[in-house]
Amino acid sequence: MKIIDNCPLKERHTFGMDVKADRLIEFANEDELKSALTGAVKPLLFMGGGSNLLFLNNFAGTVFHSVIDDIDIVAEDDNSVSVRVGSGVVWDDFVAYCVEKGWWGVENLSLIPGEVGASAVQNIGAYGVEVKDVLQNIEAISVDDLSKRIFTNEECNYGYRDSIFKNSLKGKYVITYVTYRLSKIANPNIGYGALKSVLTENPSLQEIRDAIITVRNSKLPDPKVYGNAGSFFMNPVIPMEQFVELQSRYPEIPSYPASEGYIKVPAGWLIEKSGWKGKSLGNAAVYEKQALVLINRGGATGMEVKHLADTVIADVQKIFGITLHAEVNYIE
Ligand code: EPU
Repeated sequence: MKIIDNCPLKERHTFGMDVKADRLIEFANEDELKSALTGAVKPLLFMGGGSNLLFLNNFAGTVFHSVIDDIDIVAEDDNSVSVRVGSGVVWDDFVAYCVEKGWWGVENLSLIPGEVGASAVQNIGAYGVEVKDVLQNIEAISVDDLSKRIFTNEECNYGYRDSIFKNSLKGKYVITYVTYRLSKIANPNIGYGALKSVLTENPSLQEIRDAIITVRNSKLPDPKVYGNAGSFFMNPVIPMEQFVELQSRYPEIPSYPASEGYIKVPAGWLIEKSGWKGKSLGNAAVYEKQALVLINRGGATGMEVKHLADTVIADVQKIFGITLHAEVNYIE
């Protein structure tokens, strides 16, 4: 177990804010986690790669970071394989490993920043695939009584960028392992517009991974250049009547299917139409190639980024009557 007091967080999250935590603890297995949880000074923050966080201030509490990094096959037949992965494994390293092994299911999630544990909380998704589509179960330790619980996929209540760990069980469990079921049979999922144009028919796993990496790199900023947390907002889901009315004013408005009577519209489009694409407030800006992403142009504080987000939300509300919600978690 590694304990760092007064720990700088700048290199430990992707927005690149110059903040510190009173204490950071890295645990390499469940026993270390349990002993670290005992008596830890609150508030507690469970952090993966820090790719979905906005620190508004220094963190006056204890940050926990998993470095559990084992990957084991737990079941296998001719068609599929179940793999148990430590929560501290870097998500894209796991994707690369699956592609190399010839296992299908996570290739569309190539290059998403972050680590395995947090990706299961957030139900990361891209290009027509969400992590819930391949997730079998989650092993987690209770913060309250240190007991271990295994959650089936159904018990995680997955929705769009949502799970039980963001709602009723928020802050109550620490994920230690995630088990995924992957297919050995080719199963390409390449219907998404931006992919179709760059792939040939029957692409290999590696070709799909390469295409996703190309598309992502063309639209999304590299956190090493501009601090960011990927999509800052969720794509809002609105009632169909509201969409029909908007469509009469903006016939070109894009949309995705949602549950019956509702439709999802891209927040990036709403923000661009509101005139914010490429614009800055202080050191925070709306990324010029994808308006859904807010960036740290260098030296931005969390408060500065929040101020930009609040201003964008207010303008989109005024113009479209739609309230955007942050996908990024604000840490006070
Ligand atoms: N659009 C604009 N202007 C913009 C950005 C987008 O008009 O500045 C329009 C595009 O033209 C397109 C539509 O919005 O018609 C959708 O854009 P895109 O394909 O880039 O996807 P998105 O809906 O903006 C979502 C995810 C991304 C994921 C992509 C691809 C959310 C919040 N975001 O973005 O996820 O990579 O789809 O599947 O659902 C992330 O979560 O961090 C993330 C990057």
